[in-house]
Amino acid sequence: MSFDSKALRQVLGHFATGIAVATTRDETGQFVGVTINSFNSVSLSPPLVLFSLEKQSTFFSTFQASGCFAINILTSEQQFLSDRFARQKVNQFEGVRIFQQHTGSPLLESCLATLDCVTVYQYEGGDHIIFVGEVKAIQSFTGKPLLYYQGQYTQLTE
Ligand SMILES: Cc1cc2nc3c(=O)[nH]c(=O)nc-3n(C[C@H](O)[C@H](O)[C@H](O)COP(=O)(O)O)c2cc1C
Repeated sequence: MSFDSKALRQVLGHFATGIAVATTRDETGQFVGVTINSFNSVSLSPPLVLFSLEKQSTFFSTFQASGCFAINILTSEQQFLSDRFARQKVNQFEGVRIFQQHTGSPLLESCLATLDCVTVYQYEGGDHIIFVGEVKAIQSFTGKPLLYYQGQYTQLTE
């Protein structure tokens, strides 16, 4: 292999993405969330989506055990939520209005879109696990997406 992880990360950063918060709940009903940009669509029929989560993540076992997750796609005005769910492990939902639909995973109000999913597959992916969810409920709103490109937040221009 003629490259290291740093070089690979730099090359992968050329692929511009949106940003989402993947959320779920533990067995006591407590909510957790992680900022992700590995979200992607998989299939329309059946409706499947995926994201990958680092095995070392604080909330990895919660996502493995819960059997469900929600994808909350962030707007350009929600960079603070991206920062919060990437760093903060306690009181993550303080001051954030949430609602629930099919699975009981927390859906963040004022997002660009939400997808409430039942986890149907978990695939081995090196230092990550790929979670595939069957979408059970969807919502979308108007607004601009928060984007991520070459390790930095960015936005759509008019
Ligand atoms: C823009 C952005 C995208 C991210 N995407 C992912 C992702 O797709 N999967 C993942 O496991 N972690 C992702 N992370 C990192 C997590 O949000 C989190 O910071 C990391 O897992 C460290 O959490 P820990 O302290 O619980 O280990 C991303 C972070 C940022 C800021």
